Amino acid sequence: MKLLAVLSVFLSLGLLSFAPPVSEAPTGFDNKSNGLVDDATHTTDQNTFEEVEHLTDGLGPLYNAQSCRECHQNPTTGGSSQVSELRVGHKDAHGVFQNPEVPINHGAEIIKGRSLINDRAICPSGAFPSSEIQEHVPGTETIRTFRVSLNVLGDGFVEALSDQTLLDLAKDQCRKSQGKICGQALYVPIVEAPGKTAVGRFGWKDQHASLLSFSADAYLNEMGITNRLQPDEVTNICNTATEPNDTPGADGLSDIDHFARFMRASEAPARDVTLSAAAEAKQGETLFGKVGCAACHVATLTTAAAGTVINGGNFTIPPALGDKSFHPYGDFLLHDVGTGDGIVQATVEHYGRKIAAHPDLMISTFPKFHSTANKIRTAPLWGVRLHSRLMHDGASTTLTDAIRRHRGEAAHVTDEFERLKPAEKKALLAFLLSL
Ligand code: HEC
Ligand code: HEC
Repeated sequence: MKLLAVLSVFLSLGLLSFAPPVSEAPTGFDNKSNGLVDDATHTTDQNTFEEVEHLTDGLGPLYNAQSCRECHQNPTTGGSSQVSELRVGHKDAHGVFQNPEVPINHGAEIIKGRSLINDRAICPSGAFPSSEIQEHVPGTETIRTFRVSLNVLGDGFVEALSDQTLLDLAKDQCRKSQGKICGQALYVPIVEAPGKTAVGRFGWKDQHASLLSFSADAYLNEMGITNRLQPDEVTNICNTATEPNDTPGADGLSDIDHFARFMRASEAPARDVTLSAAAEAKQGETLFGKVGCAACHVATLTTAAAGTVINGGNFTIPPALGDKSFHPYGDFLLHDVGTGDGIVQATVEHYGRKIAAHPDLMISTFPKFHSTANKIRTAPLWGVRLHSRLMHDGASTTLTDAIRRHRGEAAHVTDEFERLKPAEKKALLAFLLSL
C-alpha cells in the first residue's frame, strides 16, 4: 500500500517515465559507423560514395563532377569543400522567379526546369565531334549566385528530427523574439513516396527532407547518373549508356541506397577537443547565447524515438538514430538574413518530372516555395572551423565578415555582436573556431 502511494506520487510528479533515455549522438572524423550498420558495411557504402563514374557508367551528358567525394571531402569523405555551383534565373513581368532557359547544341535544345547550370559536359568528343552542349548563362538570366558544398556527416540525425520538432522550433523562436526571428518550415515532396511531404531540412534552401531523395537528386544533377527516383536525363544529346544508369547490385541495393545509408550511418562532426575546453571558448559560447546567435544556431536538438516511421512511410528510425541528442548549431529553418539569392527551388530538378507535373502529387506545396526566394537555411555551424569559404555563396572569407553580412531577421543580433568589447568578440570567435 505504502509502496503504491509512493509510486503514484512519483508518477504524478513525472519522475518516473517510460520514455527511453536520450543519449548523445557519436561524433568523429574517423570514418566509423554511428551504429546503424557495422564498420565493414559502412566502409562499403563509403566506397560507393567515393566511386569515380565514367562515360560507360552513364556520366553526364551534363554534370559537375565524377564522384560525390569530389565535393564532400573535407576533412574526410562526407565533409564539405570549397567547390561551388552556379545557379541562375530571372523574374517575370510580375516579379515572380523563373528558372532559366539555357540553349545548348547551337540552340537545337533548350534546357528548362532547373536553376543549376552544369559546369561540365561529356561532348564534343571523338564520338560526337559536333555536339556542343556546354551550358552557358544567357544574359537574360539576371539572378545569379554560387552555392558552396555542404557537409553531410551526421545528417542521419537531422533526417531523424520529427517535423513537429522543427515546427515547434520555428514557433518558439518567433515568440521569444517578439516576431523578429521567425524561421520558415517548408514542406517538400518525398521523392520515394509520391504524394507525401515532410519538412525540408537539407540543402541551402531546405529542398529535401529525405537523404534518399537528396541522393537521387545529386546523382542526376551533379553527375548525370539517372536512377529509379530520377529516371530522366537532363538531355539525351551524346548520351549512349543504358537507362537508368544506376541499377541494383547483387545485394538488391542501388548506388543511391548506398549513398543514403552512408550518410545515415555517419557520425556527427566532432568539436576540437583542446579548443573547446579552453576558458575563452566557454566564455564565447555564453556570449553566443547572450547576443542572440543561438536563436537560429540552436546548440542541441533531439531526434524522434526509435521506431518512428518517417519519409512518407519509407524509413523507420533505427535505435542508432532515435532518441539521440546532437549539436548542429542550426535550426534547419529558412530565414531572411539579407543574403537571399532570389532563387526558388526548381521542382523538376529536385523532385523529377513525374512529381513536378502532377497536381495531385503535392504540387499544392509548390506555390509556398516562392516565399523562400530570399531565404537561406541557417548554416549549421558544426565543423565550421574546417571551412575556408563561408555563407551559401562562399563569398565571406573570415568569420567576422560572415557575421557582419547577417542583416534582415538577424540585424538586431549583429548589432549586439558589434557592441561587444574586443575581448568578448575574440572569445565568441574562439568558440566558433572550436566547433
Ligand atoms: C559538384 C559538387 C557536388 C557533387 C559531385 C555532389 N554534391 Fe552534394 N552538395 C553540393 C552542393 C553545392 C550542395 C549544396 C546544394 C544546394 O543546396 O544548393 C550539396 C548538398 C548535399 C546534401 C545536403 C546536405 C545538408 O546537410 O544539407 C547532400 C545530402 C548531398 N549533397 C549529397 C550528395 C551525394 C549523395 C552526392 C553523390 C551522388 C553528391 N552530394 C555529389 C555539391 C556536390
Ligand atoms: C535569424 C537567424 C540567425 C541569427 C540570429 C544568426 N544567424 Fe548566422 N546564419 C544564419 C543563416 C540563415 C546563415 C546562412 C546565410 C547565407 O549563407 O547566406 C548563417 C550563417 C552563419 C555563418 C556562416 C557559416 C558557414 O558555414 O558558412 C556563421 C559563421 C554564422 N552564421 C554565425 C553567426 C553568429 C556568430 C551569430 C550571432 C552574432 C549569428 N550567426 C546569428 C542565420 C542566423
